[in-house]
Amino acid sequence: MDEVLRMLSGGDFVSGETISAALGVTRAAIWKRIRQLQADGWPIESGGKRGYRLGSHDRLEPEAWQDALTARVMGRGEVRYAHTMDSTNTALKHMALEGAPAGSLCLCEEQTAGRGRLGRSWVSPPGAGLWQSLLLRPDLPPERAPLLTFCAALAMSDALRKTAGIDARIKWPNDLVCGGKKICGILLEAAMEAERVDWVVIGVGLNVRPEAVPPDLTDRAACVADFCSAPPARRTVLRAYLAGMEAWSQAVERDGFGALREALRARCVTLGSPVRVAAPAETFTAVAEDIDDAGALLVRTQDGELRRVLAGDVSVRGVMGYA
Ligand code: BTN
Repeated sequence: MDEVLRMLSGGDFVSGETISAALGVTRAAIWKRIRQLQADGWPIESGGKRGYRLGSHDRLEPEAWQDALTARVMGRGEVRYAHTMDSTNTALKHMALEGAPAGSLCLCEEQTAGRGRLGRSWVSPPGAGLWQSLLLRPDLPPERAPLLTFCAALAMSDALRKTAGIDARIKWPNDLVCGGKKICGILLEAAMEAERVDWVVIGVGLNVRPEAVPPDLTDRAACVADFCSAPPARRTVLRAYLAGMEAWSQAVERDGFGALREALRARCVTLGSPVRVAAPAETFTAVAEDIDDAGALLVRTQDGELRRVLAGDVSVRGVMGYA
């Protein structure tokens, strides 16, 4: 972590003297480092005697956000940031296999092979979104691992409410929607042992700026900037998300689905709506009634039968629109 940036990450002026005393290096060395950081694009202002201040920015390097993190585990394991990655999920899966601890995180500006559910690709242009994956090693039996998708959905919905004032609803099982359009998708990948989960990688793609939405998807996809006058810095959303993930995942480890039930029901747009369920073997229309303890969607078909829909291989769409 860059210590100078870390000292400036609060946004207030810090004098060269304070920085050099704290880091035990000369004022000249500090000045040289500041020049380097400015050349790298960090908006550092010089305020004469007052010292240096980091202006407003939307950078995602760990030194820009890790210091003010309130989560105790999430975002504090091994953190890998790069401008470009193929997929943060793929990168983090490799780290998981090499033994990275819970709370490890991969994030980037741009993905060249971002992945979505059901084998789809996820468009991730540079700087347009928050593309990140988080590693969990939860104390859960394998059948409960899918519940962590709901934790991520609730954590991101909470984070958007807090940082952007946006009411993002959950479209079962793994999308966040605003104004009937998708603004965020979640991809969970996991490895199981016989009785316990070994690791879980939860990738979240949040569309922040309009460039994140491909032109052919504007009828069903949107971005945070569409719903607020100025979108919050991505690191602010990230910190709130990590804090929420920590709280929701601990609650699920302790109390299972019961920990989420009420919040999920309250925020799920799918419930009470007519949906079209497209499974590999058949497609049918039904009304979504509830979510059961394993996270499956319970739908009532037109002939009155209650059917259980598992997230794994189906696509659920609203009959009147995307959500
Ligand atoms: C979906 O809606 O189908 C899920 C989309 C998940 C996209 C995110 S972006 C960060 C992480 N890395 C990936 O390759 N995918 C997830």
